[in-house]
Amino acid sequence: MALTIGVDVGGTKVAAGVVDDGGRILEQVRRPTPSTDPQEIADVIAEVVDLLKGKFEGVRAVGLGTAGFVDQTRSTVLFAPNLAWRDEPIKEKVENLVGLPVVVENDGNATAWGEARYGAGRGHDFIVLVTLGTGIGGGIIFNGELYRGRFGIGAEVGHFRVVPDGRRCGCGNRGCWEQYASGNALVHEARELARVAPAMAGRLLELGGGSPEGISGPEITQAAREGDKAALECFRTVARWAGQGLADLSAILDPGAFIIGGGLSDAGDLLLDPTREAFQNALTGRGHRPLPEIRIAELGSAAGIVGAADLARTDPL
Ligand code: BGC
Ligand code: NA
Ligand code: ZN
Repeated sequence: MALTIGVDVGGTKVAAGVVDDGGRILEQVRRPTPSTDPQEIADVIAEVVDLLKGKFEGVRAVGLGTAGFVDQTRSTVLFAPNLAWRDEPIKEKVENLVGLPVVVENDGNATAWGEARYGAGRGHDFIVLVTLGTGIGGGIIFNGELYRGRFGIGAEVGHFRVVPDGRRCGCGNRGCWEQYASGNALVHEARELARVAPAMAGRLLELGGGSPEGISGPEITQAAREGDKAALECFRTVARWAGQGLADLSAILDPGAFIIGGGLSDAGDLLLDPTREAFQNALTGRGHRPLPEIRIAELGSAAGIVGAADLARTDPL
């Protein structure tokens, strides 16, 4: 049995797992992502890899699915809006730290690969995957293969502009889609609502320990599940942006399936139903064209781990 380790490096957490050749995760660990020091992120990656490596015999390679723009040679993170990395030679660094071959891939791409091979994308050749988390990741499966673009940094769907002069984005621009349809955008909505209309947001404030800043994503999902009106309103707002963005992506890419992953996808139908509705209202040529499926990632938040581990297994290195 060939084992590899997949590591998913996001803006909020570093999650790693030992994965077998059937795409099954045998053991998992996670740590918070250090927010300011580039070296600390590499150290945390090495820490989780060493921990897992120590528990299993015969781990062959490490797949790193990381947030950020991964260069064409897949060794350097050129830029990462939500991480401290700039021109970070991460492949070499982690290889030196853990003593195993390391394959680097963008996290959205790795997630798309995991879902295409083992999850909601099976049976589809044209897939657009979006992860709604700290930011928005993207992965495009084009005719069964991962589409990386000319310079390795294609499918950065989080940064297409949806609002001229809109909210500031970690990438330096304003009005990017990830400021409106990500997990962080949901939190932004809920906190804003709690600040300007505390009477409406009683349950959210309660879950957040009394202050708007205390409200987190899973709590908004919990409140929405309980039927809380304010939380549901936050979901509708974010889902409208999500559906609109997917419609725009359909205009360009015409996939057979959209797969939604990332932390926000834990909300399931709470997110999916209003997203589908917004998609159908926004799609160009609606009523006169086949509709793609819109589904939640089957491997959930583990898809990035599984995809990265699989790329490390199949990559010639
Ligand atoms: C980054 C992407 C990443 C996504 C999700 C975006 O801000 O630009 O590279 O895939 O966040 O982590
Ligand atoms: Na991507
Ligand atoms: Zn941006």
